[in-house]
Amino acid sequence: MKTWSRKDFLKASLIGGGAAFVAGQTRLYGQVAGAAGSANGDIRVGVVGINGQGNGHLRDYLKNLKGARAVAICDVDSVLLAKRAEECKAAGVKVETYVDYRKLLENKNIDAVVLASPNHQHSLQTIWGLQAGKDVYCEKPLSHNVWEGRQAVAAAKKYSKNIVMAGTQNRSSLDIQEAIKMLRAGKLGKIQWARGLCYKPRDSIGKTTGPQKVPDSINYDLWTGPAELTPPRRNGNKGPVHYDWHWFWNYGGGDITNQGIHQMDVARWMLGEAGLPTSVASFGGRFGYRDDAETPNTLVSVFTYPSAPLIFEVRGLPMKAGMKAMDAYRGSRVGVVVQCDGGYITVSESGTANVFDNDNKKIQGLSNGGNGSHRANFVKAVQSRKVVEGLVEECHYSSALCHLGNVSFLLGKEQSNAAIAEAVKADVSASEALGRVLEHLKANEVDTATTKTVKGPLLKIDGKTEMFTGSEKTIIDAANNNPLRKRAGRGAFVIPQLA
Ligand SMILES: NC(=O)c1ccc[n+]([C@@H]2O[C@H](COP(=O)([O-])OP(=O)(O)OC[C@H]3O[C@@H](n4cnc5c(N)ncnc54)[C@H](O)[C@@H]3O)[C@@H](O)[C@H]2O)c1
Repeated sequence: MKTWSRKDFLKASLIGGGAAFVAGQTRLYGQVAGAAGSANGDIRVGVVGINGQGNGHLRDYLKNLKGARAVAICDVDSVLLAKRAEECKAAGVKVETYVDYRKLLENKNIDAVVLASPNHQHSLQTIWGLQAGKDVYCEKPLSHNVWEGRQAVAAAKKYSKNIVMAGTQNRSSLDIQEAIKMLRAGKLGKIQWARGLCYKPRDSIGKTTGPQKVPDSINYDLWTGPAELTPPRRNGNKGPVHYDWHWFWNYGGGDITNQGIHQMDVARWMLGEAGLPTSVASFGGRFGYRDDAETPNTLVSVFTYPSAPLIFEVRGLPMKAGMKAMDAYRGSRVGVVVQCDGGYITVSESGTANVFDNDNKKIQGLSNGGNGSHRANFVKAVQSRKVVEGLVEECHYSSALCHLGNVSFLLGKEQSNAAIAEAVKADVSASEALGRVLEHLKANEVDTATTKTVKGPLLKIDGKTEMFTGSEKTIIDAANNNPLRKRAGRGAFVIPQLA
């Protein structure tokens, strides 16, 4: 097989297009309506949600990112807020502090917001940020459900003078961009399938006996936002509120929506499918331990696209009971594999890519760099007023895929693995994945003969309305009324309808 030269890539980029920065706006920074512009021309950033990921953003805006600086922080946890303010002070930076994001948005001396609050806040905070005239970087996923993600996209279109970027950082990986040019140019032949992998260790979060007390330092009404107001029922090593919300449907979507959204986004991008699939079906369960969490630690979702299937696999249990190491699929634990007629491409968690022939011989390592420059690209976009075309909508679709996969799972029924094997035997993607999942569960001492697995229905999707469709009214109604498709919001936290 021919080695893929840089000249080929340049040619392919003209043929196939890529993730290009396009000049969408011409205004200069400091002339932005609602942004007074700072004395030294730096973009003044407010970081919202400053525990884990938000703390990483804050560190970057304190010292690493040129042309931007943190001037404000916001968190509903007042103890954490005070701690971070002290850390900023120790780093020589005075920041304004806010418990209520809406108050931060009133500050005209903040140009951009970086949102690293939990998933259920993302769409609403993005929309509010845009309405207040701020540029917005929203962590992935864009939404907690399909409908609200569409409203966030509509807001990005409505307030198109603002820069909006989503935290699907692999979009900044030059390796993946190059791999995509290679795929579009047909260098590996037709794509047979794309597989996203999220084999990430997820231990039990422990088991409580009932509702847990929220620490006095946390404004739980603000923390809950558009979700249903209900006391936390978890209290693992992250406490009753932070981080473990990922494993509860009211706030998160399990690991497909947590880590998996990154690999989902890359897999769909590599497939070249710019929208929702025509159908989805999932199976899985929470195996190996009993704890408070609701979301599956083992999940397979098969999405039908016109070009080829997209298969997504989540595993939270290790390779084998008692081990820490995780399984790998063609060398990938958290990554993407795209199989073509003439070979395959793998993408790592950090966004580097390699090309293999069908004998598993590496024929090319793409070495332009992984996903590290995404935050800097946001700063560049804000400075230049050049928008990264369509990135928010791309994140919407990839987030929506995770929600759709979860809706199928949530509508599923527990069945014996033998019955599931029989039901999916005509579907090569599902039955091959099921075989490997059962081996994986056996290695974790799960008795697959007696333990049941949840098998969700095959749900058809109308890409235009972004709703489930079909003749089985009871199932379709249940799917469309699932909170991961759409929910009402709560009190002052209702997501406005813009689309
Ligand atoms: N891009 C990535 O690779 C990456 C990595 C990790 C996390 N994330 C994303 O970052 C987000 C945060 O994740 P985390 O692990 O830090 O979660 P976390 O629960 O540890 O932290 C979230 C913080 O947001 C605060 N918060 C909640 N509601 C708020 C509100 N209304 N206003 C202001 N602050 C609020 C919480 O008090 C908490 O301090 C998630 O959406 C996650 O998906 C992205």
